[in-house]
Amino acid sequence: MAQGEKSWEKRLAGGPDELAVDFVESLSFDRRLYKHDIAGSIAHAEMLAARGLITRAELADIKKGLLEIAEEIASGRFVFDKRQEDIHMAVEAALIAKIGDAGKKLHTGRSRNDQVATDLRLWMRDEIEILQAYLTDLQRALVKQAEQYAEEIMPAYTHLQRAQPVTIGAYLLSFVEMLARDWSRLKDCRTRLNVCPLGSGAVAGSTLPLDREMTAKSLGFADITYNSIDSVSDRDFCAEFIFCCSLIAAHLSRLAEDWILFATTEFGFIRIADAYCTSSSMMPQKRNPDMLELIRGKTGSVYGALVGMLTILKAQPSAYNRDLQEDKLHVFRAADVTEACVQMARAIVEHTVFQTKQIADGLDHGFLDATAMAEYLVGKGVPFREAHGIVGTLVAQCEKEGKVKLSQLALEQMQAVCRVIDRDVYDVLDPAGVCRNYKTLGAGGPDNIRAQVKYWKEKLKEQ
Ligand code: ARG
Repeated sequence: MAQGEKSWEKRLAGGPDELAVDFVESLSFDRRLYKHDIAGSIAHAEMLAARGLITRAELADIKKGLLEIAEEIASGRFVFDKRQEDIHMAVEAALIAKIGDAGKKLHTGRSRNDQVATDLRLWMRDEIEILQAYLTDLQRALVKQAEQYAEEIMPAYTHLQRAQPVTIGAYLLSFVEMLARDWSRLKDCRTRLNVCPLGSGAVAGSTLPLDREMTAKSLGFADITYNSIDSVSDRDFCAEFIFCCSLIAAHLSRLAEDWILFATTEFGFIRIADAYCTSSSMMPQKRNPDMLELIRGKTGSVYGALVGMLTILKAQPSAYNRDLQEDKLHVFRAADVTEACVQMARAIVEHTVFQTKQIADGLDHGFLDATAMAEYLVGKGVPFREAHGIVGTLVAQCEKEGKVKLSQLALEQMQAVCRVIDRDVYDVLDPAGVCRNYKTLGAGGPDNIRAQVKYWKEKLKEQ
């Protein structure tokens, strides 16, 4: 075949329209599958030789040719021709040009339909490992910061209103938990996708005696797929993978949103290193958290990929349709954006300083100890609902008298509202006292956080 010519040019008259060439091609974006395509082809060729469908000499030529092509692509010497449509055809045509007739046997018992489904699974297995490694790096950065701020106290918010005091470490470890779920979700995704469709052909399998178990095993798959019709069109793993990316993006967008707020003059909780800020072309004083804003904004691209992928799958007629070619655009986009965001988040976390003095100075505001005071009353036998009302009354009294915190009330003032309140109440008030007294597993006090930091350090060592 001449360069740019395809085997079906015997079937279709004339060449395709120029517009059609550009419209149908995926080579511009699926060339990044080349390593996996070539690995799949080598496994397929070895199986063809084992089954006597090609000779040992042909296998040797095919392998040598494919490895040379891999090398040419890696070094940038390979000339891509979009008329070849996709990476599968480009590699095959190059092989035929290189080794002649033996190359024409490579596609025996194979269709691009089972080929691309295999390639994408192989690619995704690797991509998941890369993403997991970046997630682990980000977790490690958060744990390191959590260790540094295991004792320091900050307000926890609900409804963006001051709620209860927690250690900064507790706040940071909340993201480590989210990322741990993301990591294991990717692991589950990998387990489910790790089955081999190769040998399913175009849709119905093959009349040739292919050894599907052999190719699956040599490509490191845990099993083969068992229905050829489903095998060529199953892209559940793509939707699942992009969903995994979407939740990672969601978690990062929450961190980004918090830290954008924390970096404002109004909060003043953190200082992000200059290297991760930009300034304004007009206002000379500005230090803008653009990287965090972009992490937040890029979430849209990942969600867009998920909706794009799910929409491709909706109401698709049975088995392979060319719609599926678009899967890769969404999968690659989600993977690339997520990878970039996780790495950027890691760098920012590593280079951010919590302004502990400023945070501590503000802790007197917001009655962060109100819940703990109600629980103190529970300890004295007051039913919680009554305790809630008593403390609510005391908070209102503080506000009336211009007092910012409960501990500024005299004991007699408290006793006037509730007789069981004693001098020991002052021990449980104020944020540091509250944090010290947290007793439940998983609570935001320093004891639990020190234990959790220890746990995560060990856990992330193995990961
Ligand atoms: N480039 C195609 C894709 O990504 C490969 C499969 C094409 N199969 C076909 N029968 N036209 O899905």
